[in-house]
Amino acid sequence: MFVGARSSKAGRKAADEIVKKGGKASFLEIDVSDNNSVTTAANELAKVAKNLDVLVNNAGIIVDGDDAILKISDELLRDTLETNTFGPLRVTRAFAPLLAKSKAPRVINVSSGSGQLADGADGWAPAYSISKTALNGVTVQLAAALPKFAVNAVCPGWVRTDMGGSHATRSVGEGAYTIVWLATDAPQQLTGKFLRDRKEIPW
Ligand SMILES: NC(=O)c1ccc[n+]([C@@H]2O[C@H](COP(=O)([O-])OP(=O)(O)OC[C@H]3O[C@@H](n4cnc5c(N)ncnc54)[C@H](OP(=O)(O)O)[C@@H]3O)[C@@H](O)[C@H]2O)c1
Repeated sequence: MFVGARSSKAGRKAADEIVKKGGKASFLEIDVSDNNSVTTAANELAKVAKNLDVLVNNAGIIVDGDDAILKISDELLRDTLETNTFGPLRVTRAFAPLLAKSKAPRVINVSSGSGQLADGADGWAPAYSISKTALNGVTVQLAAALPKFAVNAVCPGWVRTDMGGSHATRSVGEGAYTIVWLATDAPQQLTGKFLRDRKEIPW
């Protein structure tokens, strides 16, 4: 397993923790908002791995001040899209050749229910929500372009992370539940879907 992070200190620490628990993990430096960094990471991985079975696009941001659609700056929206929407697209593009060498390649985009259009919006974090709506669009486009791959979007629920905060309703393990299933046991034919709790949800 390769743990991608832009901070080598945090990435190495996460990889070390997996190794301490008996897993195999190495750190891979990657800033998903930077094309050069993503290309370099894909080249580095290609030097040490013959193929890649699963890519989890997990990195995401909510920018301070993302409070009201009529007040946010273009820059705030652009920065959010750069990481949350372009990030998964450029990482998938860069790693697709290595994924294509797997027998059953899988791409998992960590999205959010806040990007769902089915029930309208409640005004919370508009730039973030728009970036996740767009990520869902990227997901179905990638699924169409990569028929051998399983490409899906997941809402992890409200999770107790730095982003979710300590009052969130789900543990990290609960948040990872559907992501781990899609990475391991989900049918390869399941593709182009948006899921929560291992079930399809409306876009
Ligand atoms: N927590 C929730 O309740 C919740 C709900 C729905 C969806 N999600 C989604 O779940 C995913 C994980 O979120 P989280 O809750 O774990 O958030 P988090 O605690 O804020 O962690 C986000 C991670 O993304 C990394 N990251 C941000 N920008 C990056 C970049 N340009 N390149 C590489 N890494 C970058 C951060 O690294 P640094 O440490 O370097 O900043 C951090 O490790 C996100 O996509 C989020 O939108 C979360």
